[in-house]
Amino acid sequence: MKKIQIGLLGMGRIGKIHFQNIQQYFSNVATVVAVADPLIDVPAIQKQFSSIFFTNDSKEVVLSKDVEAVLICTPTSSHAELLELAIQSGKSVFCEKPMDLSLDRTKALAELAKSTNTKLMMGFNRRFDPDFLHARESVKKGTIGDVQIVKITSRDPGLPPVDYIKNSGGLFMDMAIHDFDMACYIMNKKVAEVFAKGAVRIDKAVGDAGDIDTALTTLTFEDGTYAVIDNSRKAVYGYDQRIEIFGNDGMIQVDNNQHNRNVLYNQSGIHYALPLDFFMDRYAKSYLNEMDFFISALNNNTDMPVGGDDALQATKIAVAAKKSMLEGRPVKLSEIG
Ligand SMILES: NC(=O)c1ccc[n+]([C@@H]2O[C@H](COP(=O)([O-])OP(=O)(O)OC[C@H]3O[C@@H](n4cnc5c(N)ncnc54)[C@H](O)[C@@H]3O)[C@@H](O)[C@H]2O)c1
Repeated sequence: MKKIQIGLLGMGRIGKIHFQNIQQYFSNVATVVAVADPLIDVPAIQKQFSSIFFTNDSKEVVLSKDVEAVLICTPTSSHAELLELAIQSGKSVFCEKPMDLSLDRTKALAELAKSTNTKLMMGFNRRFDPDFLHARESVKKGTIGDVQIVKITSRDPGLPPVDYIKNSGGLFMDMAIHDFDMACYIMNKKVAEVFAKGAVRIDKAVGDAGDIDTALTTLTFEDGTYAVIDNSRKAVYGYDQRIEIFGNDGMIQVDNNQHNRNVLYNQSGIHYALPLDFFMDRYAKSYLNEMDFFISALNNNTDMPVGGDDALQATKIAVAAKKSMLEGRPVKLSEIG
């Protein structure tokens, strides 16, 4: 089988995960042929990986005739421009979330991808987490009957640097967007209304940077069922990622993945290990699975499992959540673009 020739843009936290996964697990079906990042020391890294072309200029990678699929793992503010260039150059694209902070641009890019028949996959990796996938399959099969409420707890272990926050688009767009996508994915329904509250409870610097660090969002789906999402930028006990799905025939809980499954009983109590530290380890399998889907869809010429319309839906919810918080009222999704 011909190997998919990949160009990777951005070798930061998420770019390195995809790079290592492709090298380690998909070397029989795909190969990274080029990497761009303005911060890499090209001569030094070139020595380490002699068969890969390294550059500080993303355009060189996107426009390279050796590259057929581009992975966009750069800061959010650069996604749109790179995505547009990749689509116009006829490349398939995997793009980290969100597509862009502006709804109009997200819409235009989703339409561009569609009108050019570009194979575009968005990095909503949590859809590919084995436990969440299993929960969704159970919901689809009707295991818990008619689902009425989905509750998502999504708390980071600590604040990102303030410079990251300033350029992130804010908590709803940067962090909760995963949960908005997950709620829609599990319920397999469209959102009608968003009601959100947000506050600065952890560090004043977050507020000075124009963001919040704590939020509660209620989504009402078109059929009147609900999702409740609670977000915090700092849980002192680790990365807190739980889902509860409640239906008229039962409930499904997906608990945290812990460092180990030992339970210690002693005089002071019953002790469980802490949740895994952060997204790199908690969602390690989901990153592998999503890349497997991306490469397989390219190799088999099948549809991408999550694309521009999904990005648009999640972005709309994030925009509505911010508007709801600022205006102190529920916001209909129909009010948003
Ligand atoms: N799916 C997930 O779980 C997940 C997790 C983290 C981040 N992300 C998303 O991934 C993106 C990157 O986040 P990160 O945490 O890896 O950031 P990061 O800051 O760790 O890495 C970004 C890298 O991109 C490089 N870069 C900047 N401009 C570039 C350009 N024009 N071309 C090529 N490289 C460029 C930077 O030098 C840096 O090395 C963000 O959009 C973020 O929202 C997704």
